[in-house]
Amino acid sequence: MTVKDVVKDENIVWHQHSVTKETRSKLKKQKPAVLWFTGLSGAGKSTIAGALEIKLAELGYHTYLLDGDNVRHGLCQDLGFSDHDRQENIRRIGELAKLMADAGLIVLSAFISPHRVERQMVRELLPEGEFLEVFVNTSLDECEKRDPKGLYKKARAGEIKHFTGIDSEYQSPVNPEIDLPAGSESIDVLVEQCLGELRDREII
Ligand code: ADX
Repeated sequence: MTVKDVVKDENIVWHQHSVTKETRSKLKKQKPAVLWFTGLSGAGKSTIAGALEIKLAELGYHTYLLDGDNVRHGLCQDLGFSDHDRQENIRRIGELAKLMADAGLIVLSAFISPHRVERQMVRELLPEGEFLEVFVNTSLDECEKRDPKGLYKKARAGEIKHFTGIDSEYQSPVNPEIDLPAGSESIDVLVEQCLGELRDREII
């Protein structure tokens, strides 16, 4: 049985619970949102999302940070880096982010998520205005220079296959809500840019 068969099963009926997303958000005194950080490995997604989460917590917001490397130790530990597996990785995270937004949280996610179609799929899971694509815009050259985990070196040596930017494609966002010049600006400046956008959009 495939996932599609289960979803289509007419014997599974959606149950509308009494405590709603609105109730949960009101209790938390905030608007839910999903900040979807995308960019190459080493671009700074986790670092910037982590620094932003600290600021949001200091301001009293309820958040959760979903991080690619961490999620791949648990929920997605059965998945590799083929196009098919990456698609399934993003599908699961998208559904998880949607549930967390439903719980009233501000979700920050840090995944390469290299394909536009998958990012679009997650966008469509959420109500208009709740999904913000955050492009961590660091060039391949800069990421490779940083190489914080030594993975680019391994990929160039042919020890890792399907490495994003080397022998696997990364499709840059076309019209992201937030475009972070993460190759040149400091973390503090980038976090301030994110906070400014969240204020302008009245999320915080
Ligand atoms: S995604 O493409 O499916 O969105 P994800 O963000 O979960 O990727 O995981 C990326 C992390 O896995 C990278 O930061 C890197 O540490 C590690 N990694 C291991 N193999 C690869 C690979 N072939 N391509 C990209 N990242 C890889």
